[in-house]
Amino acid sequence: MRNYPKTEKYDQNWIEKNWMGPNPLWLTEELCENLDLKSGMKVLDMGCGKGLTSVFLAKEYGVTVFATDLWISATDNLRRFEAAGVADRVFPIHAEAHALPYAEGFFDAAISVDSYHYFGASESYFVDVFSKLVKPGGQFGIVVPGLKREFEKGYPNTLEKLWFPELYTFHSNKWWRYLWEKTELCEITSCYDMEDTKALWMPWADWSVENFEKEFGNDGGGGDFDKKFLEADTDNDLAFIVMTGVKK
Ligand SMILES: C[S@@+](CC[C@H](N)C(=O)[O-])C[C@H]1O[C@@H](n2cnc3c(N)ncnc32)[C@H](O)[C@@H]1O
Repeated sequence: MRNYPKTEKYDQNWIEKNWMGPNPLWLTEELCENLDLKSGMKVLDMGCGKGLTSVFLAKEYGVTVFATDLWISATDNLRRFEAAGVADRVFPIHAEAHALPYAEGFFDAAISVDSYHYFGASESYFVDVFSKLVKPGGQFGIVVPGLKREFEKGYPNTLEKLWFPELYTFHSNKWWRYLWEKTELCEITSCYDMEDTKALWMPWADWSVENFEKEFGNDGGGGDFDKKFLEADTDNDLAFIVMTGVKK
């Protein structure tokens, strides 16, 4: 797997205390290599979870972040931003992705790391919500788990036994590109699969075997689900997709 030098500066215990999926700093670091973030920009971090990505954006790029999430309370996130020393420029907001409290054209950039597939894999979300949040010339960036290609049934045979309906939001990079590109609301500036999905995903899967149920309870397949899922993917069809664009 490639190196993520910016991420290396962060404490692994802090990451593991707050991650909600495969290392969000690796995903954000690579996403940001495809964006042009400048100090003072206003950035929406949509589906920020416990805010690791928001802290990283503020510290690495000097941007002001609106750290927006549904499952995690704004108060809990504020405490984390205070502890990380960024509470003067990372603002926690508790909101549902379809009911955001922001003015149209407010942001210089809107990003979403390992979250956009939960609410954005519909024909309407980018058109009706996400595209409107950013000013003309502003930037979009997402990282989503998905598949290397589309499958007739929606999933590869290797994953059939473990598949469940929520996973139908997993798609190929071509599928994601077309979702945004055809709207003509933005120009796609990058869209590709990150290198080595399993190396990106496995540390989280290993951590989950020991810790997931203690941390998040037993909703879904149990703490060893991701590990079983990755091991079942013997044809390497799983992907992490980076996509960025600029608003026309
Ligand atoms: C897998 S976690 C990723 C969190 C964070 N980005 C990270 O990488 O650590 C997915 C996040 O998406 C958020 N999410 C899912 N559906 C949402 C919705 N409808 N509105 C707002 N946030 C949502 C959840 O609150 C959750 O924190």
